[in-house]
Amino acid sequence: MRKDIKVSVSILCADFKYLADEVKKCEDSGADMLHVDVMDGHFVPVITVGKMIVEAIRPITKLPIEAHLMIENPYAHIDDFLNAGADIISVHAECYGQRRKGCRNFGEYPKEVDKIDIELARKDIKKVHDSGKEIIMTVNPGTPLCFDEILPEIDGVLIMSVNPGFAKQKFMPVALPKIQALSRTFKGYIAVDGGVNADTAQSVIDAGANVLATASYFFGAQDPSQAVKYLKSLKPQKHKKRA
Ligand code: DX5
Ligand code: ZN
Repeated sequence: MRKDIKVSVSILCADFKYLADEVKKCEDSGADMLHVDVMDGHFVPVITVGKMIVEAIRPITKLPIEAHLMIENPYAHIDDFLNAGADIISVHAECYGQRRKGCRNFGEYPKEVDKIDIELARKDIKKVHDSGKEIIMTVNPGTPLCFDEILPEIDGVLIMSVNPGFAKQKFMPVALPKIQALSRTFKGYIAVDGGVNADTAQSVIDAGANVLATASYFFGAQDPSQAVKYLKSLKPQKHKKRA
């Protein structure tokens, strides 16, 4: 049976002067989780926020907090985000395998891999699960789904529909076949992140996504509650046969 659509609001487009109010806005809107975009200036070109922001918002919201770690060497930092109060840790597949030529060095983006070291990923899966929290494996638009072995061990897959680094980018349809492929068998979260808005959300729902991350569509909306309501109201238009 189809899972309800969950909306994960990225605070990347929040007004950080009024972060507590912005978090309340997310909560009041009916959003299902808060998405914190952590960027280190190495895995992606820019630096955003770290565990202190998770720590700061943890006491003021009951919503689950998802730390989307766009950082090198997630293993070294996962504990910090768990201790800060994150409920879901999203790590990138590109951190567990040899990168393609052209994106191996500092400053070469986007990072992409064709396969990952499963045992290395399992160390992080264990770390997160040992603390009773959930882990999501994320893929950049150019990285294929290359971790079938661990699908039964993870809580979700996050399909990037933009190259990570910035909000307000254009949705990349290359994400859709990956969502479709996953939706045939995978029972966990099938999340999509990047360029999700009123024009693109239906296509990701049709493909089989059940979690929509949004920053600019939510914070740019005249009525953010309506935006969330709209996203949550979407139903797949095509009849899909589920395994
Ligand atoms: C991109 C981030 C996304 C981003 C989404 O690197 O991971 O979560 O904030 O922003 P919008 O919804 O504006 O595409
Ligand atoms: Zn994100």
